[in-house]
Amino acid sequence: MKVAVLGAAGGIGQALALLLKNQLPAGSELSLYDIAPVTPGVAADLSHIPTQVTVKGFAGEDPSPALKGADVVLISAGVARKPGMDRSDLFNVNAGIVRNLIEKVAQNCPKALIGIITNPVNTTVAIAAEVLKKAGVYDKKRLFGITTLDIIRANTFVAELKGKDPQKTNVPVIGGHSGVTILPLLSQVDGVSFTDDEVVALTKRIQNAGTEVVEAKAGGGSATLSMGQAAARFGLSLIRALNGEKNVIECTYTEGDGEYARFFAQPILLGKNGVEEYLSVGKLSDFEKQSLNGMLDVLKKDIILGEEFINK
Ligand code: NAD
Ligand code: LMR
Repeated sequence: MKVAVLGAAGGIGQALALLLKNQLPAGSELSLYDIAPVTPGVAADLSHIPTQVTVKGFAGEDPSPALKGADVVLISAGVARKPGMDRSDLFNVNAGIVRNLIEKVAQNCPKALIGIITNPVNTTVAIAAEVLKKAGVYDKKRLFGITTLDIIRANTFVAELKGKDPQKTNVPVIGGHSGVTILPLLSQVDGVSFTDDEVVALTKRIQNAGTEVVEAKAGGGSATLSMGQAAARFGLSLIRALNGEKNVIECTYTEGDGEYARFFAQPILLGKNGVEEYLSVGKLSDFEKQSLNGMLDVLKKDIILGEEFINK
């Protein structure tokens, strides 16, 4: 398996690359690309870690050499938030970056499974889909917005509150990846119950967790280490599914049947071709039904912004 990380010299990219160097199956290739000239150095640094994963690093304007033959492409290239900004404020810079990189993915590895980390994810995934469509290589089952950070945060916060093991706590999170579009399904967590006040407070904390980190870093960026962990979990799930493992399920933002919005994060059974099956969001509480209805206008606007960026 060849995994390419685009944006590999950044905060997320380096954390992700370190985790992949240690956790990819033996014989895999890790291909790092960033416009920053330090990238071959990041690869050289990682290559001294004794695992059976080869690492190559590429810098400069053209990601093509890094992408040739990639089975999985994970994209974290772009700018991050500073205090006072919303994720949507990143659109002006990041939309063009994602467009340009996906054009190269379409040319060099059109069959790769693509995971988008770059914000605003609700919009950048729509941009990627439209670019791939224009290039005639779009397969909706191979394009994913990575929302795994919302899941690992929800698992952590619920476990903290209820005295559980966070590694055995599993909170599905559906919708999108910003503000009210992030909807943890607390009613579906096995073995715990919540008061109404707890549901409101936890939902808000999970929705604002990105801002919590942005403010704590005080101008030094947004979540990188927890996102590296989240992206590694998602990327390794894609690899496990590509290698034929059964029952690999992740909540992720994909184009499904459009019941709620064109793109929507929901549980997905992963397989050799990406999405194997779109799984139901299950039974929702009244609070969750209301929150789901309340997010859809925002989510749909975010998606249209991405579609229009490519098509207008
Ligand atoms: P960072 O600034 O530390 O790293 C970004 C990297 O992208 C830099 O190394 C930069 O050189 C590189 N880059 C910029 N333009 C490029 C291009 N055209 N081609 C290749 N590389 C390019 O930022 P970060 O903290 O790693 O965050 C990256 C992105 O991930 C941001 O948009 C951030 O908002 C987003 N993010 C998403 C999630 C999520 O849950 N999906 C979580 C955290 C951060
Ligand atoms: C996060 O959730 O931490 C990321 O989307 C980064 C951000 O800007 O909040």
